[in-house]
Amino acid sequence: MSTAISPTAYNYKVVRQFAIMTVVWGILGMGMGVFIASQLVFPELNFGLPWTSFGRLRPLHTNLVIFAFGGCALFATSYYVVQRTCQARLISDNLAAFTFWGWQAVIVAAGITLPLGYTSSKEYAELEWPIDLLITVVWVSYLLVFFGTIVKRKTKHIYVGNWFYGAFIVVTAMLHIVNNMEIPVTFWKSYSLYSGATDAMIQWWYGHNAVGFFLTTGFLGMMYYFVPKQAERPIYSYRLSIVHFWALITLYIWAGPHHLHYTALPDWAQSLGMVMSVILLAPSWGGMINGMMTLSGAWHKLRTDPILRFLVVSLAFYGMSTFEGPMMAIKTVNALSHYTDWTIGHVHAGALGWVAMVSIGSLYHLIPRVYGRTQMHSVGLINAHFWLATIGTVLYIASMWVNGITQGLMWRAINEDGTLTYSFVEALVASQPGFVVRAIGGAFFASGMFLMAYNTWRTVRASKPADADAAAVIPAVGAH
Ligand code: HEM
Ligand code: HEM
Repeated sequence: MSTAISPTAYNYKVVRQFAIMTVVWGILGMGMGVFIASQLVFPELNFGLPWTSFGRLRPLHTNLVIFAFGGCALFATSYYVVQRTCQARLISDNLAAFTFWGWQAVIVAAGITLPLGYTSSKEYAELEWPIDLLITVVWVSYLLVFFGTIVKRKTKHIYVGNWFYGAFIVVTAMLHIVNNMEIPVTFWKSYSLYSGATDAMIQWWYGHNAVGFFLTTGFLGMMYYFVPKQAERPIYSYRLSIVHFWALITLYIWAGPHHLHYTALPDWAQSLGMVMSVILLAPSWGGMINGMMTLSGAWHKLRTDPILRFLVVSLAFYGMSTFEGPMMAIKTVNALSHYTDWTIGHVHAGALGWVAMVSIGSLYHLIPRVYGRTQMHSVGLINAHFWLATIGTVLYIASMWVNGITQGLMWRAINEDGTLTYSFVEALVASQPGFVVRAIGGAFFASGMFLMAYNTWRTVRASKPADADAAAVIPAVGAH
């Protein structure tokens, strides 16, 4: 049963724009990561200037990788997936174009204001109030485009990938608005509406759910579409995916207090956060297993398909970081890990291993399709990228584990007379080799992004986007 065929069935233009910008921001954001990692090895690289100092460039790195690179990957893939699985064009080309240009404006504004020192000083929500307002308008437009397209879908069911994307969009809107309630005092300065422990709790309710919904739920939407597509197998269990969805979103929202162990936050809230985090292991692994088992009967494809390798290894890192997270949420473990490089290692196991790898794999699948090609210019280059990314991630996280545990143990070592065994500087000196290895690992990962840029450029140069648009016919119901 085939539906109407139209040469302009889908809006691929906005998908192409977001896909290209994912690569561009990936290079800049990860390049910034390598730069600040090098500053920790060679402090001279701070250049003695305020706007090139670690303190200002670190939030620039996090904003570029999470919101610019990760955000563009989410926009590109969600617009692609929602159209194909709903067999409907985005409800409004103009509104979709607005989300593209609006989001790029947000990132450029971040790139200017953060080095200049304008910050609300809330981690991952540093941007000042005028930019917050722009984010809100863009995000509400995104919500309208996404859900509007779901409403006018031609399919009966809403494919599970869209459930994950939908939850990511709705919860991100809620988090952003609640955490950024602030009183402007000048054009570039505002104060939070909350104070003290309440402010801290709201900030980490935001921070943790930014991880849970921006860096996890959205990318699980990606997983649910691109893993089955690339493996050419149906998802292992549709039933498990529904259980996965409800369990994940119900539990995540309570886990924030694990960022505030041993603080002024009431003890019961800390313990609640700990328990919820440990339980979170179950749905996280349920999702990972669902993705992995999709390859049943198709494992041999890993030998020849580096895109599938990116996707499967990203799931392995997802499983690893969602095992590590619940362990770190246990108060006694957190007493050792908190403030150390262990946290940084955990972050990048998720960020590089999971978020970046699943995005890269998905984009290698998507880019040729929206440019009217059957595959990327060079499969060999994708393979080289895969190894650079995998080795880079392993170097990064292994060095941070060693550093983290070393720092934690050195800081808590006490002599018989109760004085500290080591000074802070001694722990810093012991961390130096790990900083060097991390910078090298990061450089590996970032150089892979240059291969991706070259491969993309060659693919785009040889393409006819009009062919992709024309080929984007509404397929038979049930096929995406
Ligand atoms: C079940 C899943 C997870 C749990 C329970 C969890 C738990 C934790 C814990 C306990 C911390 C340390 C808090 C501290 O000592 O300050 C942490 C930090 C962090 N985690 Fe996870 N994690 C999980 C998965 C992930 C994933 C998949 C990612 C990335 C994609 C991620 C990103 C982060 C980030 C960015 C931080 C650092 C926050 C900050 O202090 O700036 N986590 N997580
Ligand atoms: C080439 C790759 C990368 C390198 C070399 C790198 C390097 C760094 C460095 C040096 C820091 C500061 C650590 C510290 O304060 O001690 C950092 C923080 C951070 N990076 Fe990256 N990074 C890379 C990629 C990414 C990606 C792709 C993401 C997210 C998708 C990411 C997310 C973060 C986050 C959330 C933090 C803050 C962690 C915290 O506060 O606990 N990074 N990164």
